[in-house]
Amino acid sequence: MKTIGILTSGGDAPGMNAAIRAVVRAACEKGMKVYGIRRGYNGLMDNDMYEMNLRTVSDIIQRGGTILYSARSPQFKTEEGMAKAIATCKERGIDGLVVIGGDGSFRGARDLSLRGIPCVAIPGTIDNDIGCCDYTIGYDTALNTVMQMVDRIRDTTESHDRCAVVEVMGRGAGYIALNSGIACGATSILIPEIEYDFERDVIERMKRTQKTGKVHFVIIVSEAIGDVDEIAKRIQAETGVESRATVLGHVQRGGCPTCKDRLVASQMGYRAVELLNEGIGNRVVAMQKEKILDFDIYEALNMKSGIDINLYKIAMDISI
Ligand code: ADP
Ligand code: F6P
Repeated sequence: MKTIGILTSGGDAPGMNAAIRAVVRAACEKGMKVYGIRRGYNGLMDNDMYEMNLRTVSDIIQRGGTILYSARSPQFKTEEGMAKAIATCKERGIDGLVVIGGDGSFRGARDLSLRGIPCVAIPGTIDNDIGCCDYTIGYDTALNTVMQMVDRIRDTTESHDRCAVVEVMGRGAGYIALNSGIACGATSILIPEIEYDFERDVIERMKRTQKTGKVHFVIIVSEAIGDVDEIAKRIQAETGVESRATVLGHVQRGGCPTCKDRLVASQMGYRAVELLNEGIGNRVVAMQKEKILDFDIYEALNMKSGIDINLYKIAMDISI
């Protein structure tokens, strides 16, 4: 392939810039022309892009967000939207595309590949919810951000003998909640993958630890579970412990990527270009057991990963 495009799509994630940098540098090294497409599939439909070079990706490896901007693009899912995107690729002479995003973006990449535009997808989402991957770009940074924020909340919770109920992101997945919950010593962790009994898993746990002298509590709740204000009110009513709810929100999506996110993003970006350079499309680059692999997009979208039940058990056994 002589000319490729690159875009970031869906919710942004720290480390996307490191992946963009790796793609552009690797492609330039191989003598390819690279278009940076703005705002995900919107830019592809609207022909909004610019040619990138070694220097357009200088000084971005350490920056959160994405220099290409991101978007959710409902129009792209329509036949008309798809036709516009393909027409742009033809007009610009784009032979292949790198798509960085979550599984929604992967479905778009699969549809484009089926219509003759070879795509390689790179997992970029803080949620870590892509079936074929142990790890998605942005997850480690988000986890560390949550940990730092909850540590701060814990300080004031301790000073006031309170219970902090903290909602974290993850869409339908509990990876951020479970792992940050362990790292922050949460008394209870509520995630969508594991059925819970509120009385047994929150109230009784708090009462048990109260008997051993514990007077302040952190409860981590995945966003898919429900309203944290209601949960805090219920805890206060049933335990008598003054409770406050915090929704961490988009702070979890920003900030400088961690070393791990920069490293993984760099390797994934490099592999994506290797594949396109060999004329291979319709692939997802993935990390499994610390190795960079690639899978057919269709197969990747059907792969399932799950929460580590043992990890949940450890969390419950040691946070009392
Ligand atoms: P993420 O990539 O983080 O999962 P979204 O689910 O919002 O985020 O998807 C990002 C974009 O990918 C959507 O706005 C849309 O343009 C495209 N997309 C999502 N689902 C599909 C689909 N089933 N078919 C084609 N394109 C899709
Ligand atoms: O997929 C990333 C994510 O941050 C999810 O954790 C969250 O549910 C969603 O995106 C929030 O999306 P938005 O930024 O559109 O509110």
